[in-house]
Amino acid sequence: MRPMRPEDVEVAEQISAEAFLQVDLAARRVGDRAPERRPATRSQRWIDRTRSLLDTDGPGCWVADVDGRTVGMVTSLRRETLWVLATFAVLPGHQGGIGRPLLDAALLHSRGCLRGMLSSSSDPRAVRRYLAAGFDLHPQMVMTGRVDRAATPSLRGVREATPGDLDELDSLDRRVRGAGRGHDHLLLARTGRALVVTDRASSGYVYVGDGGSVLALAATDRRTAARLLWAALAEADGEVEVPHVTGANQWALRVGLDAGLTVRTEGYLGVRGMKPPAPYLHHGALL
Ligand SMILES: CC(C)(COP(=O)(O)OP(=O)(O)OC[C@H]1O[C@@H](n2cnc3c(N)ncnc32)[C@H](O)[C@@H]1OP(=O)(O)O)[C@@H](O)C(=O)NCCC(=O)NCCS
Repeated sequence: MRPMRPEDVEVAEQISAEAFLQVDLAARRVGDRAPERRPATRSQRWIDRTRSLLDTDGPGCWVADVDGRTVGMVTSLRRETLWVLATFAVLPGHQGGIGRPLLDAALLHSRGCLRGMLSSSSDPRAVRRYLAAGFDLHPQMVMTGRVDRAATPSLRGVREATPGDLDELDSLDRRVRGAGRGHDHLLLARTGRALVVTDRASSGYVYVGDGGSVLALAATDRRTAARLLWAALAEADGEVEVPHVTGANQWALRVGLDAGLTVRTEGYLGVRGMKPPAPYLHHGALL
């Protein structure tokens, strides 16, 4: 195990893309589309995000070498008193005994944190590691499909975010998940449009990625959260994806139902020292 360096990031991306393709192939159900390797645009985003994490959270990022070849990687971040696992992967063919010391190294970065969050794949090896590290696992759902536009309600009060909103978004994150995102709002804004509600009594944000898919959402109350999710879905262009819906966020299932989306389970939200946040749809890596 050794700390990740900037020159490791591209190899780390390839390890994670290979490992996740293997998980998708193993989880494929009859009728599912054939899983594909992470496309080039997403690989580049992964690389940009990981370089940024290395700058802010170097001690949370590690790689594992075997016979001079890098075969495993882990990245994690600390925001105030929250520790977040961003990515954890070992190259298929090298899995078995490497994940444990890698995760232990990343967990050193969680010292002093009151809370922890991670988004787990359905890989039983990952599940075993997270339970052993003291995380509670909550099933996640993903909603997909084409949006029934006729069902879209009024979206009054939803507007584009401006840099002046950052402080309010951070206090909202503290209220909903116990820690501000800080710099991560800028990372999210590079990959999606930020829409916000900042009424006197309620506030919230949603990051909308390619084609109307939801990257992250937080709100003071379920009504505002539902309004923001509808605003994201209104951007839909073809198939959309709303991932990372936990049982604590039934409001999102109701929106998905009204919008004509289909629901299935996929992976787990892992939490330590906290409950699954609500109203909240977490980001897969920045949680
Ligand atoms: C998750 C991952 C990083 C772990 O690396 P690894 O080298 O396989 O991890 P380890 O061998 O140290 O730990 C895996 C544990 O699962 C156990 N395990 C292996 N196969 C299993 C199975 N089919 N069912 C249940 N447990 C299993 C192992 O015995 C080990 O537990 P132990 O240490 O208590 O004996 C790696 O498997 C991987 O890259 N998976 C695909 C990508 C992924 O899902 N990453 C996590 C995303 S959040």
